[in-house]
Amino acid sequence: MEPVKVGLLGLGTVGGGTLNVLVRNAAEIARRAGREIVVSHAAARDYDPARLEGIDRVEVSEDAFSVVDQPEVDIIVELIGGYSPARELVLKAIENGKHVVTANKALIALHGNEIFAAAQKKGVTVAFEAAVAGGIPIIKALREGLAANHIEWIAGIINGTGNFILTEMRNKGRDFADVLAEAQALGYAEADPTFDVEGIDAAHKLTILASLAFGIPLQFDNCFTEGIGKIEPQDVAYAEQLGYRIKHLGITRKTDEGIELRVHPTLIPERRLIANVDGVMNAVLVKGDAVGPTLYYGAGAGSLPTASAVVADIIDVTRTLTTDPGNRVPHLAFQPSELSDLPVLPIGDVETAYYLRMTAEDRPGVVAAVAGILGDLGISIEAMQQKEPAEGETEVPLVMLTHRVRERQMDDAIARIEALPSIRGHVTRIRVEHLS
Ligand code: HSE
Repeated sequence: MEPVKVGLLGLGTVGGGTLNVLVRNAAEIARRAGREIVVSHAAARDYDPARLEGIDRVEVSEDAFSVVDQPEVDIIVELIGGYSPARELVLKAIENGKHVVTANKALIALHGNEIFAAAQKKGVTVAFEAAVAGGIPIIKALREGLAANHIEWIAGIINGTGNFILTEMRNKGRDFADVLAEAQALGYAEADPTFDVEGIDAAHKLTILASLAFGIPLQFDNCFTEGIGKIEPQDVAYAEQLGYRIKHLGITRKTDEGIELRVHPTLIPERRLIANVDGVMNAVLVKGDAVGPTLYYGAGAGSLPTASAVVADIIDVTRTLTTDPGNRVPHLAFQPSELSDLPVLPIGDVETAYYLRMTAEDRPGVVAAVAGILGDLGISIEAMQQKEPAEGETEVPLVMLTHRVRERQMDDAIARIEALPSIRGHVTRIRVEHLS
């Protein structure tokens, strides 16, 4: 049988890793796929041939559209990233009747509905395992391995850069900006690192996971997103004293009223396995009604781990080349006609517990005033810590954990607490999830 021909768009970190894995493991891959897979064409402006195995057998062009238009190419692998021209390239590949593999989470989260509709019409596959949590096969797990379940919720550490920053702050007491600079130097961070620290990258990935879990269209704009920029070393230390770790989590949960879709720093009990996922590693905890909680752990970024997911998709597509479109695994796990219109809830309707930290004047009645506001709004305090004021200081940090309450009620409480004359500045709020 003729080899399957791949057109690789991008020969950077992931593109290079993909070529190297396809060449290095060619025989094993052919045994698995049932056909040989070769990269016949690639598009890149700038690349280092010395780190690319078998590049002499690839026709390399600077024009990605010329690769997409190559009649002999069966599968286009988009590893350029970003919204544009990735969207135009993928749509053109589909129009040309080619299958597509991409690692581009931003593209799928924002334009996936359009891309899948086009692919459906044309009878081609768009595979995107590498878009979420790098090398961890979480999309396959949700779409296939857990297909028997009602998924109840997912909580994931799905941005390696953010997790690396929080880990270094906790372990070494390092400063935020300093750790971010190191993450950039190590090549973990996105081209625009605000995508990592502001939670946008995690929101892209969570949007995709929620659609696969609950059978809803992709709705990135409805994802509540809060980054790690406001976490201070003292919050990391207080959380620890209370028996918690701060992790930047993507959380999506199905409730009777709608879908929670939120990315934010979260206190989780330190005894949970996911609380101990450190550095650039990713982990996704999925709770299914039949299977119970399942945890997926591994490298969320990097050349070879991401290539592992890209190549697995290429093998999957190769296996399905002769399958009719109706019998392929649906893009968003559920048949397109069966997607649900269950709404994504505004953050005000979401219920969680909270960690609150505020700076208070050290005088009688201050704690009572804060507790009174919380009590009036029906918010129950679970734990409280007040430190001695430092020598010569008249202000003290006051730290509280509350029971679960709707975010809207907590907004109201925080506004009232901040208006107290005895409270200085803003109240720091970090949501708490017990993940039990
Ligand atoms: N910037 C991303 C991260 C890369 O740090 O997780 C993988 O998507």
